Amino acid sequence: MPAEKKEFILKRFTPYMGKKKILLPLSLVLSGLSAVLNIVPFILVWYITRDILSSPQSMNLSKISFYAWLAFGSAVGGVIVYFFALLSSHLAAFRVEIGMQKVGMDKILSMPLGFFDQHSSGKTRKIVNDGAGTTHSFLAHQLPDMAGSFVSPVMLIALILMVDWRMGLASLVPIILGFITMRFMMSAEGKGFQKMYYDSLEEMSSESVEYIRGIPVVKTFGQSIFSFKRFYASIIKYKEMVHAYTLLWRKPMSFYSTVMQTAAFYLIPMAIFLIGRGDNLPLVLADFTFYMLISPIFTTLLMKSMYFQQNTLIAEQAIDRLDGLTEYPGLSYTEKEKTIQNYSLEFRDVVFSYEGSDKPALDKISFKLKEGETIALVGASGGGKTTIARLAARFWDADKGEVLVGGINVRDLPKKELMESIALVFQNTKLFKASLRENILFGKEKVKEEELNKAIESSQSREIITKLPEGLDTVIGSKGTYLSGGEQQRIAIARAIVKNAPIVLLDEATAFADPENEHLIHKALKELSRGKTTLMIAHRLTSVQNADRILVIERGKIAEEGTQEELLKMGGIYKGMWDEYQKSLAWKINAKRQEDGGQNA
Ligand SMILES: Nc1ncnc2c1ncn2[C@@H]1O[C@H](COP(=O)(O)OP(=O)(O)OP(=O)(O)O)[C@@H](O)[C@H]1O
Ligand SMILES: [Mg+2]
Repeated sequence: MPAEKKEFILKRFTPYMGKKKILLPLSLVLSGLSAVLNIVPFILVWYITRDILSSPQSMNLSKISFYAWLAFGSAVGGVIVYFFALLSSHLAAFRVEIGMQKVGMDKILSMPLGFFDQHSSGKTRKIVNDGAGTTHSFLAHQLPDMAGSFVSPVMLIALILMVDWRMGLASLVPIILGFITMRFMMSAEGKGFQKMYYDSLEEMSSESVEYIRGIPVVKTFGQSIFSFKRFYASIIKYKEMVHAYTLLWRKPMSFYSTVMQTAAFYLIPMAIFLIGRGDNLPLVLADFTFYMLISPIFTTLLMKSMYFQQNTLIAEQAIDRLDGLTEYPGLSYTEKEKTIQNYSLEFRDVVFSYEGSDKPALDKISFKLKEGETIALVGASGGGKTTIARLAARFWDADKGEVLVGGINVRDLPKKELMESIALVFQNTKLFKASLRENILFGKEKVKEEELNKAIESSQSREIITKLPEGLDTVIGSKGTYLSGGEQQRIAIARAIVKNAPIVLLDEATAFADPENEHLIHKALKELSRGKTTLMIAHRLTSVQNADRILVIERGKIAEEGTQEELLKMGGIYKGMWDEYQKSLAWKINAKRQEDGGQNA
């Protein structure tokens, strides 16, 4: 992160605080006050000890008891004030946590749809949820210590030097040594390490998700974890990080822990020296007691401030990641609200490259689809067919050229209007873990039962539903209820039919398990595209037959264009595909005949 971006940590939380921005500073003030109240008893105990030791014969009991009560009151007061400091820091923390999640979620909702193709949902969830969680615990628990770890050392040092500067200096020796060690541990190198440590932890956790997703493949190929090189490498990297990190801290940490316990080592010689020099014995003893009491407090404070710095870093990184997310360029929307007058779809010289790829996925694609027409895209895998559908739905914006709906550039259309005009059925449809009914009605509230039934019939989904124990109310993904790929696509088609959008983008699933399913899906797609402007990506030439026109897409360009008849006459790529298709058809028929013949014999 560039240095100039480093703001004071509290300032970075304020945007997420909502109203009541006072809570954070209030918590700081209260915890500072509590730190003062906590030190007062030590001073009073010192007074009392001094009194008792210096004139044991003429002790002023009432004065001593007054001091004692005062010490007690101040200690209790310190605890109570600290309670309120924690209360306000927790309130603030919850607000910031919610604020961060809101900002994150808002941003996710406004992301171009293509974002989700390129960023793992696990990582995004981690940034928003875990980031907010980390920040919460930092603010709630560590923040109050921040004031304490500023206020107390100042007070303590003043006090230590006031009571008896010579013993004060002696008791400061371990603290200074400890402080130097701590600075060393928190040095730039240590900090860099910490960031690398958390990065490698994150990498390992995201790789593990990928690994678990890939387990079926790994298992069916009889491989071990070593085949998942990336996961394996991330574990090794993490191990090495931890090892190096531990080694870096081993010596300074041991030194630190030891040196911080050595106050007596310096105080006793100093006391002996002072007494030997002829100082007042009771007073030296009283001071000595005071210093022995107060020096462990310093240790605790330094420890706290060390943890504070460490956690500040973690919280800062959480905010950095969220900022990274919010700074991700979203799609721009123009203010001029245009409404769609007709539902044609047009691409004009569209050029588009995916992020990080030097070769354009689409290279000057132009075609026009009039309202109600059906166009079919065919061509080799990786040619750019899905990308065309994505750009039509504004998953991404074209780098050059225009995508127009009803003659209006999609950039000039309100998001809602565009989304309402388009129904999508994609290659890898995802159903939600919800009832079939919710899956079909998704995004539509007022749908009549007959409409729903019609969609179920038209999408050929009736038999899927009747076969399930709870029919439409069966929850997908629970109790082992799963649908086959083909069945899922039929449900997705039902959803699209219910949506009843004037433009339909269909990306046919590449693999239908059986011809029966394939046949049903084609029937369903036909119903869905009836009377609609349809862009259909066909992987099987049977699907192409209803199209008004066919585009053959090859390496991001339109290689051939025309009706089926024209393309066959042309004798080019499409003709080749057609011949292949006829061959496979003949082969299938032969196989079927043989099978039937075998059965009859
Ligand atoms: N999200 C993505 N990020 C980067 N590159 C991508 C992404 N999606 C597709 N590509 C690349 O863009 C090119 C076109 O891909 P596209 O998915 O549009 O092909 P397709 O014609 O739909 O193929 P298929 O018939 O296999 O579905 C390919 O080279 C592919 O590797
Ligand atoms: Mg595709």
